[in-house]
Amino acid sequence: MTSTGQPLNRVDGVRKVTGTATFSAEHKIPRLAHAVLVMSTIANGRISAVDSAQAERMPGVIAVLTHKNAPRLPSAGKAAAGQPPAGRVLNLLQDDRVHYSNQPVALVVAETLEQAADAARHVRLNYQAEQASTDFDKAKLQPVDPKKAKDGPADTNRGNLDAGIAAAAAQIDVAYRTPMEHHNPMEPHATIAVWEGEHLTLYDSTQYVTGDRNTVAKTLGIAPDKVRVICPYVGGGFGCKGSTWSHVVLAAMAARRAGRPVKLVLDRPQMFGPVGGRPNTEQRMLLAAGKDGALTAVRHNVLASTSFQEDWLETAALVTRMMYEAPNQQTTHRLARLNIGTPTFMRAPGEATGSFALECAMDELAYEMKVDPIELRLRNYAQRDPEKDKPWSSNALRECYRVGAERFGWARRDPRPMSMRDGSTLIGMGMASATYPANRSAAKASASLLPDGSAVVRSGTQDLGTGTYTVMTQVAADALGLAPDKVRFELGDSSLPQAPVSGGSQSVASVSPAVQAACAALREKLVSLALADQRSPLAGARPDDVAMEEGWLFLRSSTDRREPYAAILARNGGRALEASGEAKAGSEKEEYSMHSFGAVFAEVHVDADLGEVRVPRITGAYGVGQLLNAKTGHSQLMGGIVWGVGMALMEATEYDLRYGRAVNANLAEYHVPVNADIGAIDIVVVPEKDAHINPLGAKGIGEIGITGVAAAIANAVYHATGKRVRDLPITLDKLL
Ligand code: MOS
Repeated sequence: MTSTGQPLNRVDGVRKVTGTATFSAEHKIPRLAHAVLVMSTIANGRISAVDSAQAERMPGVIAVLTHKNAPRLPSAGKAAAGQPPAGRVLNLLQDDRVHYSNQPVALVVAETLEQAADAARHVRLNYQAEQASTDFDKAKLQPVDPKKAKDGPADTNRGNLDAGIAAAAAQIDVAYRTPMEHHNPMEPHATIAVWEGEHLTLYDSTQYVTGDRNTVAKTLGIAPDKVRVICPYVGGGFGCKGSTWSHVVLAAMAARRAGRPVKLVLDRPQMFGPVGGRPNTEQRMLLAAGKDGALTAVRHNVLASTSFQEDWLETAALVTRMMYEAPNQQTTHRLARLNIGTPTFMRAPGEATGSFALECAMDELAYEMKVDPIELRLRNYAQRDPEKDKPWSSNALRECYRVGAERFGWARRDPRPMSMRDGSTLIGMGMASATYPANRSAAKASASLLPDGSAVVRSGTQDLGTGTYTVMTQVAADALGLAPDKVRFELGDSSLPQAPVSGGSQSVASVSPAVQAACAALREKLVSLALADQRSPLAGARPDDVAMEEGWLFLRSSTDRREPYAAILARNGGRALEASGEAKAGSEKEEYSMHSFGAVFAEVHVDADLGEVRVPRITGAYGVGQLLNAKTGHSQLMGGIVWGVGMALMEATEYDLRYGRAVNANLAEYHVPVNADIGAIDIVVVPEKDAHINPLGAKGIGEIGITGVAAAIANAVYHATGKRVRDLPITLDKLL
């Protein structure tokens, strides 16, 4: 029986629930000292004076680092900047500039965490404050052109927009807004830095051990092979841990200054600014269609906030470029500069915000034209990627609409707003399309067969809580003819064979083929050993006659000629057998456009008197190629949907515009869904074969789950109430 596809329990599950999985802040290091960051209290200006004398005299204090005394770094700490995902513009105490409130401006190292926290409050900083840009609506009046949107241009034009508008029978032209959001993984960013001579070991919570190693090495001006990053477990990443932020390098600087290993863990308020977030957007969306419902013109103008340190772009219009067959189309991206910490990748960056605007606009157009929202989407289904003019590697979108609608009971919906009232409860049903690119990068792996016949397979990838350990164990087990419990998979160490960032929903698609390649090479070595050995029952057979199962090699033509792997190794001196492999995408990447697709349906109950919105049920149907583990896969999709509920109804980082400061920088006031907020979530993965994406036919599932959800809920709220809320989150004040 093959293991891939089975709903195998997480192989790291017991370690997690028994507390034996070691997260970054939990590694036991002798002589560990504790660091606490001091954050800026102004949004723009200079540090005019520093007085750390009192803090330095406090009990247990080992060192206080400020811009006055911090080690000078090559290129003022910017040697690795401008190379995302890992390489960002950092704040490393190299000068007196403050670019945003909550920027690291000093750091205290002490014997205990409490002593460091206490002393951090006694580092006195005086500021020369300058006028700060804190108001998006003012900043957007002076927009900045980003140079590009991901790998493509910031702006696109196809066909003739004006002609398309002139030919339309109906159109809508409206603006949607999404707020600033912050990732808030349960595990905060955490780093332990240990110097042994010139060698630095970092226990760092990261989505990218290799990028982390290279970025820290470059920033400090040391060779990459002098740095090792270890990260066996991550308590959630969602994009914020894809980059190496200031605190990682600061921990290394502090450890060197202190002459001791140093642990630096961000507290919850420090998660709002220095480690990225989703920028706010204003998206103007024009959709025009002919009498038949076919789109004649689409215009999507995106304005997104960024910092003064980087031109980070939320690529919200990319989804519009590829989603529907629209012959005349214009998309633009502009930036509005604010004194905030630089935004970053946040689960489905671009698609999460962009699909809210596009899929709400499709719903508005459907009402305008009195056509069913699914029908409108079907009429505009793109047979091939209309922007790249390439065929899809696979596309199950129409099947997702059909299966999703059926499971959800879409046919029961009376399309008239406020038509499905039940007493004081307004009931609404809404839907939206979902999509996310199917990415893949080069990856390497190694595989060892141990004398007892079990295997260890390794790759320098990461498990963010997503299931990488489990799925890679399954892939390796199948490739080695072993049961999954005979395979141990190791990851999360920059000294392992190199793998890409666990971002862009690409880990399975990238790492699985490398694991397969390493296992195939190992299998070949094992078979050669057996066939060449007169003592083996398989001696002299043809290699293509050899099969493997449950730790045995046997001949297909004569199944009683068989022996266990361990016997082969025992004859070979009892040594382990080693092999390595690598894999990367070929020309298929140029020939096909690769995306996951889905359709999401939401039912909402709105209290007619109080405006409170509940979401009793959501159905999501997805085409994601081959699902390698039904359990972890469904969990991934479900997690995305839950986040979509939060995005729709709760999440926003609120700023005090006088100070440019996040005022709800904690989990009590930054609202995310809890169990009581989530109703039934019905997920179906439709059968889909993708022969092009990678040898396993598996597309990514980490991010598509959030896409379309906010739109489906907003559309359901309109259906329930007749109120079109275009400004997230849909809080009750907007419905009263
Ligand atoms: Mo994902 S936002 O690319 O970690």
